[in-house]
Amino acid sequence: MMFKHEIIEKNATLMMVLSLIVVSIGGIVEIAPLFYMQNTIEKVEGVRPYSPLELAGRNVYIREGCYTCHSQMIRPMRDEVERYGHYSLAAESMYDHPFQWGSKRTGPDLARVGQRYSNEWHVQHLIDPRSVVPESIMPPYAFLAEKDLRTDDIVAHLKSNRAVGVPYTDEMIELAEADMRDQADPDADWEGVQTRYPKAQVGDFDGDPSRLTEMDALVAYLQMLGTLVDFSAYQADENYR
Ligand code: HEC
Repeated sequence: MMFKHEIIEKNATLMMVLSLIVVSIGGIVEIAPLFYMQNTIEKVEGVRPYSPLELAGRNVYIREGCYTCHSQMIRPMRDEVERYGHYSLAAESMYDHPFQWGSKRTGPDLARVGQRYSNEWHVQHLIDPRSVVPESIMPPYAFLAEKDLRTDDIVAHLKSNRAVGVPYTDEMIELAEADMRDQADPDADWEGVQTRYPKAQVGDFDGDPSRLTEMDALVAYLQMLGTLVDFSAYQADENYR
């Protein structure tokens, strides 16, 4: 027996292969049950896929690199919860491809910025941050209000999200372009958008109802962040309050 062990100890490759087998057995025993245990699967009501307009805004957010200064994950620590609100739940970013959690905070976390300010505030802040927050070091994004929002590629965006698991229906994909226009059109019938995307905020976002701009999309996105889950049901969790 001792002699046989010597064979393993003198052969680095064999030793590595056998160690890997032992470690992976340990790993599987620990990890596999998590996929089947009910209490590791968080059930959260209210989370839905982004509306086409919100998704377009999210694409602008990513294109402009807002994530290089802003995180979207409130950690379960007292100072964060007191400043930003309920800590982020994993389910809240289940439809994010890619997610925007981040850890770089030159500016504040934005996970729950939705509804905290008016649309007018956001537009003014994005056009000229220093006009509303004098000490701000955020760059201005005034050009977004001048750029028409591209609408011809939104169907492809929904489809690619569906390919990675976001449950967009055929109806949502078919109506994506119309839904995108309707959500930001003050004269539209919003029933369809709001049935397909509950809690979607509607109406003009950028202060110019005659045009659909990238500013409309970005503000629609910012205004929905963190607003989907009703946290009154979670208030019982005293641990972090
Ligand atoms: C160079 C870093 C930087 C970049 C890039 C940046 N921001 Fe900011 N942002 C800040 C800072 C600093 C503040 C805090 C001061 C202020 O309110 O302007 C801030 C504040 C904000 C606020 C207000 C948050 C609150 O809770 O008061 C919002 C909303 C916001 N940024 C959105 C954006 C968006 C959208 C983009 C991309 C188009 C962006 N930021 C890009 C630095 C940045």
